[in-house]
Amino acid sequence: MAEVEELMKTSVLMRNPQRVRETIASLRTGGVDKLQVISDFDMTLSRFGFHGRRCPTSHNILDSSKVVSEVCQQQLKDLFHFYYPIEIDPNRTVDEKLPLMVDWWTKAHGLLCQQKIQRGQLAQIVRDSDVMLREGFEAFFNTLHLSHVPLFIFSAGVGDIVEEITRQAGVLHPNVQVVSNFMDFNEDGVLWRFKDPLIHTYNKNSSVLEGSSAQLQARPNVILLGDSMGDLTMADSVPGLSILLKIGFLNDKVEEQRERYLDAYDIVLEKDETLDVVIGILQHILPGDRPAPRGPAGEAAPLSEGPL
Ligand code: TMP
Ligand code: MG
Repeated sequence: MAEVEELMKTSVLMRNPQRVRETIASLRTGGVDKLQVISDFDMTLSRFGFHGRRCPTSHNILDSSKVVSEVCQQQLKDLFHFYYPIEIDPNRTVDEKLPLMVDWWTKAHGLLCQQKIQRGQLAQIVRDSDVMLREGFEAFFNTLHLSHVPLFIFSAGVGDIVEEITRQAGVLHPNVQVVSNFMDFNEDGVLWRFKDPLIHTYNKNSSVLEGSSAQLQARPNVILLGDSMGDLTMADSVPGLSILLKIGFLNDKVEEQRERYLDAYDIVLEKDETLDVVIGILQHILPGDRPAPRGPAGEAAPLSEGPL
């Protein structure tokens, strides 16, 4: 088969390149109707860093916004500095991490619910933030949209913020479904709790989809995109799962985590802030007679993007 040229990028690491090529060939043979993409959001579709500075997660966007008091901002930062090293600690098991992640999310959501955040403030909060989607996001979202390939965003972040970011970027197309922690507003439009179930880094699996109205599509061929070891279970409950290509962004603690990521993900993208490889694979798999990806207003998609 013809090569996916993007796999030659220096950021690409693969334990078994031959198997990856065979998997991509099978996805292509399987055709567009059998394909879906299941993706994490924070630090997978959004950027990890820009010009040496960390970009915010959907939680961080709220944490550092003016609608949150300085005292609360500090408390949320303290939580982050305590729990994030645990989240990514390669020396702890998932079982050890699970209750600690529940603690983190529960405490953070509890603090946010004391801040009287209004639904009507969310759009401005996102506009004021430094969030950025990965380079090439328009081609990624628009290609899937034009090809009618479902994109299931499975996020332990804040669903309202994830939707607002993608809406403002003009890519919240009808083929996109977001499953995440959604806010619950009272009759005055003020945040008073988060809806169940609580989704954290290590329960992104069938346990949070059971009984939910959001269901994975019964399309057996999956491209999974993630940046954490917790993202690997996102496709577990796809009915009749047949082919799974796992692509992992290795953003942080690269030296310590490289071997584990290579064992877990078929393709590891090391310190790569673009969606080039994913787009290259999609263009290889999908039929060639699609119109070129276009921006929301019909203009040609730019090659790179600045802050939203
Ligand atoms: P995800 O990318 O797997 O969906 O996970 C969401 C990320 O959000 C995870 O890396 C931890 C991070 N997070 C914060 O930045 N602040 C918080 O208050 C919480 C609860 C999570
Ligand atoms: Mg993530």
